Amino acid sequence: MTQIDTAPIVEDKLTVTPLVGKPLGCKVTLPSYCENDPSKLNEQDHKKLFEAVLTYLVVVIPKMDNFSPNSQYNLTRSFDYSISQKDLSKVSYGHEDKILANDKSILKRDLITIKQQPEVHVLGNGQWQDKKYGDDPIDLKHPTHFTFHKDTLPKEKCFNVPEGEIPWTRFYRWHIDSALYKLYPPMITTLLGLKVPPKEKKQLVKYDDDEGNELLVQQAATCFVSGANAFDLLSEEDKELALNTKVMYAPHPYIYISNCKATNDGLTMVNEKKELALDELPPWEEEHIMKLPLIWTNPVTKKHHLQVHGCCVYKMFLPDGTVLELEDARKLIYKWMKPAIAPQNVYAHEWSDGELCVFFNRGVWHSVSGQFDDGEKRLCHQCNIASNDIPKTL
Ligand SMILES: [Fe+2]
Repeated sequence: MTQIDTAPIVEDKLTVTPLVGKPLGCKVTLPSYCENDPSKLNEQDHKKLFEAVLTYLVVVIPKMDNFSPNSQYNLTRSFDYSISQKDLSKVSYGHEDKILANDKSILKRDLITIKQQPEVHVLGNGQWQDKKYGDDPIDLKHPTHFTFHKDTLPKEKCFNVPEGEIPWTRFYRWHIDSALYKLYPPMITTLLGLKVPPKEKKQLVKYDDDEGNELLVQQAATCFVSGANAFDLLSEEDKELALNTKVMYAPHPYIYISNCKATNDGLTMVNEKKELALDELPPWEEEHIMKLPLIWTNPVTKKHHLQVHGCCVYKMFLPDGTVLELEDARKLIYKWMKPAIAPQNVYAHEWSDGELCVFFNRGVWHSVSGQFDDGEKRLCHQCNIASNDIPKTL
C-alpha cells in the first residue's frame, strides 16, 4: 500500500498566518535566503513584513535565538521611514538615557543595555552573564504591580503558592513605548524572548474591577490590546469627540508621576495629588512638551487607533475648546480605555524560547504581567527607536 505523506508542504517564502481565535496577532515564517535574519529581507519581503505588523499589530517570528542585537536594531530602524538611513548619529532609543537614569524615573530599571548596541535594552529576571552585557554579571528585576499599583494583591497569593494553586497577578502598566517628551513615539518595538518560563506555568491576572474579570496567562506573558478596537468600542458620539481630541503629557512624565500609584488594572494613575511640581522636575522646555492627537490613523489599514499613555496623561483638549485638567483627563481617558482590556480583547503572548515579537507601537498598547519567585529567571532583548514622524489623525 502506498504511504501518503501528510506533512505540510513548507514553501520557501515569507508566510503570514493570522493567530486563530485571538483578537490580534500573526505568525511569520521567513524565507531561507535571509538566514533567519529578518533585517536581511529583500525589499518586497520587507514590505510584506511591515504590512503584516501594521495589519495584525503583533508579529511572532519563532526560532530567533541567534538574532544579534545589531540585526535587531537594524530591523527595528528599518520600519520607520522618517529616520534618515544616512545620518545614523541622529538615531536614538525611544527614551533619553539621562532621563531614564534619573533616580526618580519609574522606568529606571530599563537602563541595562547591550554595550555594542545601546539601543537594545536587556529585560527580564535574575542574574545573567554574557560578554554582550559587559564583564560583570547583570541583575534583572521583572517589574511587578507591587511597586506600581496603589492597592496590591496579597503577597501569599502571588509568591511561593502551594502546589496546585495558580498564583495571582495583575497587568503591570498598559502603555505605548515612548518618552512622551521631546522624542516622538517609536513606530515599532521588537522584543526577543531568549529565555522564558515554560508554557505550562500559569498565573491568573486579577482585574479587581466591578465585573470581577480574570485572565489566565503564562507566567510573565506580554499582553497586547488593539488601539483600533479601543476606538471601535466607543459610542458614535465619543468617536466623534475622540477624533478631535488632543492629549498633553507632562514634561518628563515618568518623573512627574514618580510618587503616584496606579489603578488595579494598570490603566491610569489614582488621583491623590502626589505629582511633582513642574519646578521639581529636571530642566524642561515648553517646545518639547508633547501634545498629540488621541487618535492615530494606521497608514496601512487606515483604521483609527486610540493611542494614549493613560498613566502619563496630563491634560486633554476637547474639540469644543474645553481643557480637562489632570484629574478629569484621567477620568475620561480611563472611561475610554477600560472596555479595550476586557479579557476577550487581550492577546496575552505566551512565549517560547527564541521568539521575536515585532509590534506596531502606534497601534497597540501593551503590558507586562506576572511575577517571579526567587531563583526563577527570564531574559529578553528589547529595541525601539524614537521617530521623527508625528502621529496623525487622517
Ligand atoms: Fe513597553
